[in-house]
Amino acid sequence: MLRPVDIRTHLPEVLRAFGGQNALLTAGDRTAANTMTIGWCQAGRLWNLPVCTVYVRPERYTYGFMEAQDYSTVSVLPAEHRKTMALCGSQSGRDVDKFAACGLTLAYGAGDAPYPEQAELVLVCRKLYVQDMDAACVRAEPEIARFYGEPGGWHRIYTGQIVEIYSSGIEEL
Ligand SMILES: Cc1cc2nc3c(=O)[nH]c(=O)nc-3n(C[C@H](O)[C@H](O)[C@H](O)COP(=O)(O)O)c2cc1C
Repeated sequence: MLRPVDIRTHLPEVLRAFGGQNALLTAGDRTAANTMTIGWCQAGRLWNLPVCTVYVRPERYTYGFMEAQDYSTVSVLPAEHRKTMALCGSQSGRDVDKFAACGLTLAYGAGDAPYPEQAELVLVCRKLYVQDMDAACVRAEPEIARFYGEPGGWHRIYTGQIVEIYSSGIEEL
Protein backbone atom coordinates (compact mmCIF):
# COMPACT_ATOMS: atom_id res chain seq x y z
CA MET A 1 0.00 0.00 0.00
CA LEU A 2 1.59 3.28 -1.13
CA ARG A 3 1.32 6.32 1.12
CA PRO A 4 2.51 9.90 0.60
CA VAL A 5 5.80 10.77 2.34
CA ASP A 6 7.78 13.98 2.81
CA ILE A 7 10.87 14.41 0.64
CA ARG A 8 12.67 16.38 3.36
CA THR A 9 12.83 13.31 5.54
CA HIS A 10 13.00 10.67 2.82
CA LEU A 11 15.56 12.00 0.35
CA PRO A 12 18.40 9.84 1.76
CA GLU A 13 16.28 6.73 1.34
CA VAL A 14 15.36 7.79 -2.21
CA LEU A 15 19.03 8.12 -3.06
CA ARG A 16 19.74 4.73 -1.52
CA ALA A 17 16.99 3.13 -3.61
CA PHE A 18 18.33 4.68 -6.82
CA GLY A 19 21.83 3.52 -6.00
CA GLY A 20 20.83 -0.10 -5.80
CA GLN A 21 18.03 -0.62 -8.32
CA ASN A 22 16.91 0.40 -11.75
CA ALA A 23 13.64 2.27 -12.01
CA LEU A 24 10.62 2.60 -14.28
CA LEU A 25 9.98 5.90 -16.01
CA THR A 26 6.26 6.15 -16.68
CA ALA A 27 4.67 8.92 -18.68
CA GLY A 28 1.32 9.71 -20.24
CA ASP A 29 -2.08 10.47 -18.80
CA ARG A 30 -5.35 8.69 -18.01
CA THR A 31 -5.99 7.96 -21.69
CA ALA A 32 -2.60 6.58 -22.77
CA ALA A 33 0.68 5.81 -21.04
CA ASN A 34 3.93 3.91 -21.40
CA THR A 35 6.75 2.81 -19.16
CA MET A 36 10.40 1.88 -19.65
CA THR A 37 13.29 0.76 -17.50
CA ILE A 38 15.85 3.43 -16.70
CA GLY A 39 19.25 2.95 -15.18
CA TRP A 40 20.25 6.57 -15.11
CA CYS A 41 18.56 9.03 -12.78
CA GLN A 42 19.49 11.39 -10.00
CA ALA A 43 17.57 12.99 -7.18
CA GLY A 44 18.84 16.12 -5.47
CA ARG A 45 18.36 19.84 -5.26
CA LEU A 46 18.34 22.49 -8.02
CA TRP A 47 16.96 26.02 -8.10
CA ASN A 48 16.13 25.44 -4.43
CA LEU A 49 13.73 22.67 -5.38
CA PRO A 50 13.86 18.91 -4.85
CA VAL A 51 14.47 17.49 -8.33
CA CYS A 52 14.89 14.24 -10.21
CA THR A 53 16.71 14.06 -13.53
CA VAL A 54 16.23 11.29 -16.10
CA TYR A 55 17.78 10.66 -19.53
CA VAL A 56 15.69 9.49 -22.47
CA ARG A 57 16.87 8.64 -25.97
CA PRO A 58 14.67 10.13 -28.69
CA GLU A 59 13.93 6.77 -30.27
CA ARG A 60 12.15 5.50 -27.15
CA TYR A 61 8.36 5.34 -27.37
CA THR A 62 8.37 6.88 -23.89
CA TYR A 63 10.04 9.99 -25.34
CA GLY A 64 6.83 11.12 -27.06
CA PHE A 65 4.93 10.87 -23.78
CA MET A 66 7.67 12.79 -21.97
CA GLU A 67 7.43 15.52 -24.58
CA ALA A 68 3.63 15.66 -24.51
CA GLN A 69 3.12 15.76 -20.74
CA ASP A 70 4.34 18.06 -17.98
CA TYR A 71 4.28 15.34 -15.32
CA SER A 72 5.86 11.88 -15.22
CA THR A 73 6.87 9.37 -12.56
CA VAL A 74 9.98 7.46 -11.56
CA SER A 75 9.20 4.26 -9.66
CA VAL A 76 11.20 1.58 -7.95
CA LEU A 77 9.60 -1.85 -7.89
CA PRO A 78 10.33 -4.49 -5.25
CA ALA A 79 13.48 -6.42 -6.14
CA GLU A 80 11.58 -9.58 -7.13
CA HIS A 81 10.12 -7.81 -10.20
CA ARG A 82 13.19 -8.73 -12.25
CA LYS A 83 11.19 -9.99 -15.24
CA THR A 84 9.20 -6.76 -15.38
CA MET A 85 12.35 -4.68 -15.34
CA ALA A 86 13.85 -6.83 -18.11
CA LEU A 87 10.74 -6.69 -20.31
CA CYS A 88 10.23 -2.95 -19.83
CA GLY A 89 13.87 -2.39 -20.71
CA SER A 90 13.92 -4.52 -23.86
CA GLN A 91 10.48 -4.23 -25.47
CA SER A 92 8.86 -1.11 -26.82
CA GLY A 93 5.40 0.13 -25.96
CA ARG A 94 4.96 0.52 -29.71
CA ASP A 95 4.77 -3.28 -29.94
CA VAL A 96 3.39 -4.43 -26.60
CA ASP A 97 1.22 -3.13 -23.76
CA LYS A 98 3.88 -3.47 -21.08
CA PHE A 99 1.46 -2.83 -18.23
CA ALA A 100 -0.75 -5.74 -19.30
CA ALA A 101 2.22 -7.97 -20.11
CA CYS A 102 3.75 -7.41 -16.67
CA GLY A 103 0.51 -7.33 -14.65
CA LEU A 104 1.08 -3.72 -13.65
CA THR A 105 -1.94 -1.61 -12.73
CA LEU A 106 -1.87 2.16 -12.88
CA ALA A 107 -2.66 4.83 -10.33
CA TYR A 108 -2.27 8.58 -10.93
CA GLY A 109 -0.45 11.31 -9.09
CA ALA A 110 -0.22 15.06 -9.58
CA GLY A 111 -0.97 16.19 -13.12
CA ASP A 112 -2.54 12.77 -13.82
CA ALA A 113 0.96 11.28 -14.00
CA PRO A 114 0.63 7.48 -14.17
CA TYR A 115 2.60 5.12 -11.94
CA PRO A 116 2.47 1.37 -11.27
CA GLU A 117 0.66 0.53 -8.04
CA GLN A 118 3.08 -2.37 -7.54
CA ALA A 119 5.95 0.09 -6.90
CA GLU A 120 7.46 0.52 -3.45
CA LEU A 121 8.64 4.04 -4.18
CA VAL A 122 7.22 6.61 -6.59
CA LEU A 123 8.46 10.11 -7.39
CA VAL A 124 5.98 12.32 -9.24
CA CYS A 125 7.93 14.90 -11.23
CA ARG A 126 6.86 18.17 -12.83
CA LYS A 127 8.92 19.06 -15.89
CA LEU A 128 11.21 22.01 -15.17
CA TYR A 129 14.07 21.82 -17.64
CA VAL A 130 14.78 19.90 -20.85
CA GLN A 131 18.05 19.78 -22.76
CA ASP A 132 19.67 17.44 -25.24
CA MET A 133 23.01 15.95 -24.34
CA ASP A 134 25.70 17.27 -26.62
CA ALA A 135 28.76 15.34 -27.83
CA ALA A 136 30.71 18.62 -27.83
CA CYS A 137 30.35 18.83 -24.05
CA VAL A 138 31.99 15.48 -23.33
CA ARG A 139 35.19 15.76 -21.28
CA ALA A 140 35.86 12.08 -20.66
CA GLU A 141 35.80 10.66 -24.17
CA PRO A 142 36.37 6.90 -23.89
CA GLU A 143 34.06 6.29 -20.95
CA ILE A 144 31.13 8.22 -22.38
CA ALA A 145 31.54 7.60 -26.12
CA ARG A 146 31.15 3.85 -25.61
CA PHE A 147 27.47 4.43 -24.78
CA TYR A 148 26.88 5.95 -28.21
CA GLY A 149 28.48 3.37 -30.49
CA GLU A 150 25.22 1.94 -31.80
CA PRO A 151 22.75 3.96 -33.88
CA GLY A 152 20.54 6.26 -31.85
CA GLY A 153 20.40 9.80 -30.61
CA TRP A 154 22.02 11.33 -27.59
CA HIS A 155 19.78 11.32 -24.55
CA ARG A 156 17.44 14.17 -23.76
CA ILE A 157 17.82 15.33 -20.17
CA TYR A 158 14.62 15.95 -18.23
CA THR A 159 14.90 17.60 -14.84
CA GLY A 160 11.65 17.57 -12.93
CA GLN A 161 10.56 19.02 -9.64
CA ILE A 162 9.62 16.21 -7.28
CA VAL A 163 6.12 17.24 -6.30
CA GLU A 164 4.96 14.02 -4.61
CA ILE A 165 6.55 10.88 -3.22
CA TYR A 166 4.65 7.68 -2.48
CA SER A 167 6.22 4.89 -0.49
CA SER A 168 5.09 1.52 0.81
CA GLY A 169 7.68 1.32 3.57
CA ILE A 170 10.86 2.77 2.20
CA GLU A 171 12.74 2.14 5.44
CA GLU A 172 12.79 -1.57 4.56
CA LEU A 173 14.76 -0.99 1.32
C1 LIG B 1 18.86 -1.69 -17.11
C2 LIG B 1 18.37 -0.78 -18.22
C3 LIG B 1 18.51 0.59 -18.08
C4 LIG B 1 18.08 1.46 -19.10
N1 LIG B 1 18.21 2.81 -18.93
C5 LIG B 1 17.78 3.65 -19.90
C6 LIG B 1 17.87 5.08 -19.71
O1 LIG B 1 18.29 5.59 -18.65
N2 LIG B 1 17.47 5.87 -20.74
C7 LIG B 1 16.99 5.35 -21.93
O2 LIG B 1 16.63 6.12 -22.83
N3 LIG B 1 16.86 4.01 -22.10
C8 LIG B 1 17.23 3.16 -21.12
N4 LIG B 1 17.09 1.81 -21.28
C9 LIG B 1 16.52 1.27 -22.53
C10 LIG B 1 14.97 1.30 -22.55
O3 LIG B 1 14.44 0.84 -21.33
C11 LIG B 1 14.47 0.38 -23.68
O4 LIG B 1 15.00 0.81 -24.92
C12 LIG B 1 12.96 0.27 -23.74
O5 LIG B 1 12.62 -0.86 -24.50
C13 LIG B 1 12.30 1.50 -24.33
O6 LIG B 1 10.92 1.29 -24.32
P1 LIG B 1 9.88 2.22 -25.09
O7 LIG B 1 10.21 2.17 -26.55
O8 LIG B 1 8.53 1.59 -24.79
O9 LIG B 1 9.99 3.60 -24.53
C14 LIG B 1 17.50 0.93 -20.28
C15 LIG B 1 17.36 -0.46 -20.42
C16 LIG B 1 17.78 -1.31 -19.40
C17 LIG B 1 17.61 -2.80 -19.56
